[in-house]
Amino acid sequence: NKKTFIFDLDGVIVDTAKYHFLAWQRLASQLGIEFTPEHNEELKGVSRVKSLELILNLGNIKASQEEKDIWLVQKNTEYLSYINEIDESEILPGVISVLNFLKENNQDIVLGSASKNARPILEKTNIIHYFDAIVDGNDVSNAKPDPEVFLQGAKKMNNNPINCIVFEDSLAGIQAANIANMISIGIGDKRVLHEAQFVFPDFTHIDINFIDNLVNR
Ligand code: G6P
Ligand code: MG
Repeated sequence: NKKTFIFDLDGVIVDTAKYHFLAWQRLASQLGIEFTPEHNEELKGVSRVKSLELILNLGNIKASQEEKDIWLVQKNTEYLSYINEIDESEILPGVISVLNFLKENNQDIVLGSASKNARPILEKTNIIHYFDAIVDGNDVSNAKPDPEVFLQGAKKMNNNPINCIVFEDSLAGIQAANIANMISIGIGDKRVLHEAQFVFPDFTHIDINFIDNLVNR
């Protein structure tokens, strides 16, 4: 039976994780909080609101809702200034070949992202036509590691979670896929993504036979 391949966006399809990091780091340093790439791992896959909470906790900062709202807008404004100019060149290596292979083999392709900026990014990078369904930060109320985003994706395709395969660069996302009972494939550092069923440093390291086996298993 047909498989549903669910892709995270930031850090899996496009090289935008670095822009999220830069924008959060700017805000953190303005608030006098030390914010390292290690801290940033915990923000990957996590919603904007929850990310801010994590950063404020790092600095032991209590803030009013008004202050938080201002910081959230500031962070997103800076992030948007980076992605405004985004184009195909920010698509990560090897991604397009995998998308093409899945299309040729009639498999479902779904986006499962926590980002509220997902659609404009898919449009600007000219890949939105690959997707049979999009589930993003505007659709879900529970952030990864809650499996909601991926379960919604399976439901939109009328498929069972056991027929779904998730590509993720965040530990929270891998945990969400595992909780959903889907196959979890980590893209990135295997020390960070140790809970994934399979890990590859990037899509160029994925043999097309590996994908073919997932399609036909
Ligand atoms: C993704 C990224 C996170 C980001 C979140 C919300 O999960 O990995 O770094 O904070 O989406 O994105 P947004 O574009 O809505 O702020
Ligand atoms: Mg990601």
